[in-house]
Amino acid sequence: MATTLRDLDGKHLVLGLTGGIAAYKAAELTRRLQDHGATVQIVMTEAATHFITPVTMQALSGRPVFTSQWDDRSAGGISNNMAHINLSREADAIVVAPASADFMAKLVHGRCDDLLSTLCIARACPLLLAPAMNREMWANPATQRNVVQLRADGITLLGPASGDQACGEIGDGRMLEAHEILSELITFFQPKLLQGKQVLVTAGPTFEPIDPVRGITNLSSGKMGYAIAQAAHEAGARVTLVSGPTALAPPRGVSLIKVQTAQQMLAAVMAEVGQTDVFVSVAAVADWAVRNPLTQKIKKDDGAPPRLDFLANPDILASVANLASPPYCVGFAAETNDLDQNAETKRQKKNVPLLIGNLAQNALGADENELMLYSDAGITRLARADKLVLARQLVAVIAQALSKH
Ligand code: CTP
Repeated sequence: MATTLRDLDGKHLVLGLTGGIAAYKAAELTRRLQDHGATVQIVMTEAATHFITPVTMQALSGRPVFTSQWDDRSAGGISNNMAHINLSREADAIVVAPASADFMAKLVHGRCDDLLSTLCIARACPLLLAPAMNREMWANPATQRNVVQLRADGITLLGPASGDQACGEIGDGRMLEAHEILSELITFFQPKLLQGKQVLVTAGPTFEPIDPVRGITNLSSGKMGYAIAQAAHEAGARVTLVSGPTALAPPRGVSLIKVQTAQQMLAAVMAEVGQTDVFVSVAAVADWAVRNPLTQKIKKDDGAPPRLDFLANPDILASVANLASPPYCVGFAAETNDLDQNAETKRQKKNVPLLIGNLAQNALGADENELMLYSDAGITRLARADKLVLARQLVAVIAQALSKH
């Protein structure tokens, strides 16, 4: 199983809860934030305490919970009876989840009639809200006006999602799940090295059909390509991921185009590449497709093994790299031997400025990898690490190269 990356190590968050049934998700969120290395200070409005108890939140966060602006306990290690100042001064961000329609309205007007609203208005750190309300409350023109104003004031809104609501209705206004808020927060804190850039990534194997129930594929899991798509999104890029069949969930915020064959992958890539600044070709594309795959299942009736005839697949990376004005192209090479020589030869042959080499026996299906980077500047090694950690390092290298491109 993949180890949890401590993506929020050293971060201190104030997690504010306002009154809403989604408050139960804040318990799970607290745990997940801590799993990722953050420390969490809970602040609740009086309404929130009707939905989940401060005792629960204290036990989970390991810190006393603050609910009142008249609470004279020491806050942030200071005993000046100014919790509304001290609690946010040590925070890297305030996250309010759930954020009720009422609380959002209050923030728009700068009202400070309880500890959490006062804390938000007196903050010196970023503020993120995860709205949670009935769909009619969300759609109400007053709420929508407030959303526009909150964004204009520099406040980040996470969600809401659409779906089943506690009231039995279905629509927009549902609070994001804890794991979704976590991933939004991790993204929030990553440096925006690719802000405004459009990145296209291919990932996974391709599947070349033989007949309706059989085909030729390979052992690529798609993990490295999905990690690069995620890292590029975290870095502020708009990301399209063209993926062959994998068992992976698409990274949040990335648009996914699912394909099966190399021909379909080429068509999807060519349809997207016009607006692309960076193309990262991670897919393990089958070199050959079966000529004329059968439309009916092959039967073994007469016992004779079928004879397959193959035709060469297009080279997607080379096709993109040889466009009149190609995006910045990054190729991958999975080799079993002579990595340096094979990778540099492949880089020249495919005409790409950056080629990432790895040993297939280390890479395929694993959560970790070790990468060698081949470019005009020579060879750089990225030491063995989780694929997402490597993907973030790679994004930094690509951003650096783009600035000179
Ligand atoms: N690639 C591609 N289209 C193909 C084959 C490969 O876009 N039809 C891309 C891969 O996504 C990868 C790079 O080309 O970025 C290297 O692919 P690889 O299959 O390792 O190289 P080949 O040129 O096929 O060489 P060989 O199989 O001989 O190692």
